[in-house]
Amino acid sequence: MEQISMNRMCHEAFEIAADAHRYVREGLLLWDDVSQIDPPSCPALLVTQDGVFPVQCWVDRPSACDGDVVDKVEAVILSMPNGVLHVVSVKRDNALDPIDLGALRICPDADLAEHFHDLLERVETPMLRRFIGDVFSLRQVFQGFWEATAGTRHHAWAGGLARHSVEVAERVASDMSRSDPDSVMFTEAERDLAIAVSLLHDIGKTISYTADGFCTPRALMLGHEVLGVELMHKPLEALRVEQVDLADALTALLLSRTRFAQGRFHLEAIRQVISKADRDSARRGLARL
Ligand SMILES: [Fe+2]
Repeated sequence: MEQISMNRMCHEAFEIAADAHRYVREGLLLWDDVSQIDPPSCPALLVTQDGVFPVQCWVDRPSACDGDVVDKVEAVILSMPNGVLHVVSVKRDNALDPIDLGALRICPDADLAEHFHDLLERVETPMLRRFIGDVFSLRQVFQGFWEATAGTRHHAWAGGLARHSVEVAERVASDMSRSDPDSVMFTEAERDLAIAVSLLHDIGKTISYTADGFCTPRALMLGHEVLGVELMHKPLEALRVEQVDLADALTALLLSRTRFAQGRFHLEAIRQVISKADRDSARRGLARL
């Protein structure tokens, strides 16, 4: 954990602020633009379990090498009589789970956030739960997941990607929990794996479209599946260090490369369940256009 204290200008600015209220909150700092040079203080948003608050930060921004992940902090906050909140020091800890810190507060649809949260509660495999947290620590995913469309063919509205992903995951969780003597009996670990893949199967769509809604050249060349795996490269590598076969199973499912897969998971059977749920959700999303 890295301790960042207030800078000298902050000391001077707050010498007269004896009536300020001081408290500590865990949360996520969303800086306006991590590439900017630090002025004495910078505007940002602080996302916590209680909500999203505009704040004025008197601490150093994350270093450039941390720019692709959100800033997870324990912040010391001064609440001034004029209502302005000042972050005067932080402890940074990249190991914190962004979802525990309040990441779902970013979702503009409270009902959808609740469904997403309930799905996460069903994932009992600690490494998969941590992997999903690592993916949602990526700046591109943290906000992009809730804002992106699922494309131009179905769920083609802002927020459509999140709605589609949750629909697929809920259907998959339900289908894999049913005991059917004519189909594969899935383990809890396989169900957890399938929920994680369902939630993340279209994550590459957060980087597949231009602001005008056209496919980027790389999306046209590689497809959103490959872009998604590329986007999740660091979380996948972190998981691979702990459990190779789980990371490989996730990768195989995300790329639909399961037909001849060997190992402890029924990957081809899992893929079929996810594909069916994906098609059905897409069909319903089409009907709503
Ligand atoms: Fe999909």
